[in-house]
Amino acid sequence: MSATFLGIDIGTSGVKALLIDEAGRALGEATAPAVEPVRPHPGWSEQNPADWWTATLAAIDKLSKSNPEQLSQVRGIGLSGHMHGATLLGKDDEVLRPCILWNDGRAAAECAEMEAALPSLRQLAGNIAMPGFTAPKIAWVRKHEPQIYAKIAKVLLPKAYIRLLLTGEHVEEMSDAAGTLWLDVAKRDWSDELLAVTGLNRSHMPRLVEGSAPSANLKPEFVSRWGMSGDVVIAGGAGDNAAAACGIGAIRPGEGFVSLGTSGVIFVSNERFSPNTNGAVHAFCHAIPNTWHQMGVILSATDSLNWLSRITGQQQADLSRAAEAQFKGPGEEIFLPYLSGERTPHNNANARGSFTGLSQSTEPAQLAQAVMEGVTFAFRDCQRVLNDAGTKIDRLLAVGGGSKSPLWLKMIATNLNMEIALPEDGDFGGALGAARLGLCAATGADPASVMTMPAIKTVIAPDRSLTNAYADQYARYRALYPAIEEART
Ligand code: XUL
Repeated sequence: MSATFLGIDIGTSGVKALLIDEAGRALGEATAPAVEPVRPHPGWSEQNPADWWTATLAAIDKLSKSNPEQLSQVRGIGLSGHMHGATLLGKDDEVLRPCILWNDGRAAAECAEMEAALPSLRQLAGNIAMPGFTAPKIAWVRKHEPQIYAKIAKVLLPKAYIRLLLTGEHVEEMSDAAGTLWLDVAKRDWSDELLAVTGLNRSHMPRLVEGSAPSANLKPEFVSRWGMSGDVVIAGGAGDNAAAACGIGAIRPGEGFVSLGTSGVIFVSNERFSPNTNGAVHAFCHAIPNTWHQMGVILSATDSLNWLSRITGQQQADLSRAAEAQFKGPGEEIFLPYLSGERTPHNNANARGSFTGLSQSTEPAQLAQAVMEGVTFAFRDCQRVLNDAGTKIDRLLAVGGGSKSPLWLKMIATNLNMEIALPEDGDFGGALGAARLGLCAATGADPASVMTMPAIKTVIAPDRSLTNAYADQYARYRALYPAIEEART
């Protein structure tokens, strides 16, 4: 009987389950939507962990209907999840409050306080204290919800919470743990000093494993629910970005991708730990032993178009088609995509979005174009600070829902002045990377032979006829942020 492997990607907007065979070929997939994050205050973002669990079970149950035989042959499972979320558990693993998510900006003051309390924080963590990371959120809870803080027995990231329900064990892996600000990223171990800044210690943390190593076994009740047999190993897995890198085979130095998902990411693998806190570059562990990576992260990528779709009542796909149909190069409208604040390069949770250059002739299509351009310029900012950090990128693969738009990819190729390669149809995101990590954990296969690059459908080259116009528009875009911030604050 041949073995199969399951990848589960816990995303902010839904859960995706993907089955692969021993050769890594996709056999079937299923998705289940998540309940949208709630925003009790501007800049806050919370989700109920129980909703991730409902969506996870729903997605796997769907696969057990569509691919019952193949699901019953699963030997290894990998988990991928949105990063940084603070899932607070009490002594019997009860959830103490809704999870404070990666795009929540409430903990800005706590970041400054943490850096003042431990001046070596940036060196130890390799990263600036940013409100999106997990530790500052706990500092916020300690200050504002002391009765909840007092009950904390464990802090888990979103996918570790799902692992707990699937296996009964508290375990996390390096790529996601690096985004807590409690990890000594160079040593790949929890840091007692960093934990102490938020009044926590190792007992509050899950056990650590590498992403491609086994973490725990699936509970017998789920083994029988999905018709499986024997031990089913769950791999450490990866934070969603490192998982996407495993899915597109970006594990060697200099390999990377640009992700147009809810958040936007430029991701590059590094041979060694390469911190550069200037420009709010993220320097994290990869999901493969002895490998690290850097990222520039923007908080609202397709989420910006999602917002425009909500307020105009037009579907996202219709908006991007309309933008494409009238596109003649940059127009008057400019959009700053800081709807949830921004990480790279500004590290400013209180930054906000803006439109400028509106006129009587501005239609939703022009707004959509400006939104796509604003996100593209935010990627250009990320590229600039990664270059400042000495990182050279020759070519990026495109992943995420927004990569379906040829116009968006052309804007990105032109602005980053590099080729953008679009994989063949299929999913090369977190779910595939997670399934590959599940395969490695269950079979002991070498990650380097499993994490291959997909076949490329098209390579989008920079459009030289737009280079100058975009250089000018980018200069205007860059000038707007400080001017608007000064007026706002
Ligand atoms: C990365 C980040 C996001 C989330 C959401 O630092 O916050 O990419 O992982 O997907």
